[in-house]
Amino acid sequence: MMDPPACSGDFLSKYETMNKQDYHFDYEVYDSIDDLTEEDKWLLDEAREVTQHAYAPYSRFQVGAVAKLSNGEIVAGSNQENASFPAGLCAERVVLASVSSLYPKVPIETMAISYYNNNGESDHPITPCGICRQALQEFKSKTNVPIRLILGGMHGKVYIIPDAGMLLPLSFTSSDLK
Ligand code: THU
Repeated sequence: MMDPPACSGDFLSKYETMNKQDYHFDYEVYDSIDDLTEEDKWLLDEAREVTQHAYAPYSRFQVGAVAKLSNGEIVAGSNQENASFPAGLCAERVVLASVSSLYPKVPIETMAISYYNNNGESDHPITPCGICRQALQEFKSKTNVPIRLILGGMHGKVYIIPDAGMLLPLSFTSSDLK
């Protein structure tokens, strides 16, 4: 292997011409579900309930997700695990696949996500995993409508993120394949 270049004037001039970019996003934090609008409260309550439909014998971490579509339909899903661990599906992607199958091309306006942790507390919001962020991003680019997220546990603080795409800056998309 070759030696790395010494830290020289060349390095310093590159540093000076480098263009730093900034990324930030705003989201809302509520102390509890009681501070939400009636509709958001209802959606998060549904997500809490649907955690009970999870099949999570391995992680014992039950996740529920409920989507409100722009046509008014509600679609729910929960995580479905498998003895072959990578075959398991997160609640969010169960919902995305169901929506695409049941109502192709209909945008999701809002998705509420909750969880019941049999191993410990369920007292703070969880955010979608990396693979689900990618899948949410692709769903959004398909429909051109941002997916608003309501995130909360069984109790405690609630986050509202106006666009799930904000959780995946500099994402890899279909246009990169062209
Ligand atoms: N899980 C979800 O369903 N959604 C998330 O946002 C995080 C993780 C599932 C995957 C697995 O079945 C269990 O939770 C533990 O990771």
